[in-house]
Amino acid sequence: MIEISNLYKSFNSKQVLAGVDLSINTGETMVIIGGSGCGKSVLLRHIIGLMQPDRGSIRIDGAELSHIKKNELFALRKRLGMLFQGAALFDSLTVAENVGLGLKEHSEYSPEQISDIVNKKLEMVGMSGTGGLMPAELSGGMKKRVGLARAIAMDPEYILYDEPTTGLDPIMADKINDLIIALRNKMSLTSIAVTHDMVSASKIADRIAMLHQGRIIFCGTPEGIKRSPDERVQRFIKGEAD
Ligand SMILES: Nc1ncnc2c1ncn2[C@@H]1O[C@H](COP(=O)(O)OP(=O)(O)O)[C@@H](O)[C@H]1O
Ligand SMILES: [Mg+2]
Repeated sequence: MIEISNLYKSFNSKQVLAGVDLSINTGETMVIIGGSGCGKSVLLRHIIGLMQPDRGSIRIDGAELSHIKKNELFALRKRLGMLFQGAALFDSLTVAENVGLGLKEHSEYSPEQISDIVNKKLEMVGMSGTGGLMPAELSGGMKKRVGLARAIAMDPEYILYDEPTTGLDPIMADKINDLIIALRNKMSLTSIAVTHDMVSASKIADRIAMLHQGRIIFCGTPEGIKRSPDERVQRFIKGEAD
């Protein structure tokens, strides 16, 4: 379980997170929605310990992130996979090297074992046989799949997705949605996805939380959000400008 409480973060004078409270239950898929620049990526970066809050706390299975030591943070990171916005592959490495990077650096597996694991993960995301390709040879959707294979390479318990469908055509986006659902079921993952894509959110989420002006202003089911009386929520889900 991930418990975020009263999280504050500002950059210079700009307040980005202003008291975020949110709990993600084990096994669920929580989708965090909100407009561009509202702080979704910043929130994810806090959850994986890449950013420190000004105030507030994040607890992962009871352990307070800001209190844990460097070596413990490292062990914790292994339990969290992340698909970065834009997939963030290394252009000079092959697909297989990208997927196996974490295993090579942080595990005791032999090169043969790593190669086996990499092939299995590529198969899980529908990218069998692409290990020898370079990222430049891949389409946007293929890059996301490879990023996904890398995110699950270490068999994480938690997976964080930053805009998994942004920039993809609707058909490819839907394939990624299906993949997220399939991985959740196969690996019993607890998932957090941030997106501004309401179609994707409605499809993959058990619950949706909306981040607005630094706080969570709604948290509930995809059905529930449609009935929210909050005008800010309604404007967002209907795609209307403020
Ligand atoms: N490392 C940083 N330094 C300064 N400002 C940042 C940094 N990261 C994010 N921001 C600012 O925080 C705000 C939220 O950014 P972000 O979380 O990326 O938004 P989004 O919801 O689109 O993912 C933006 O105004 C952005 O410019
Ligand atoms: Mg972002």
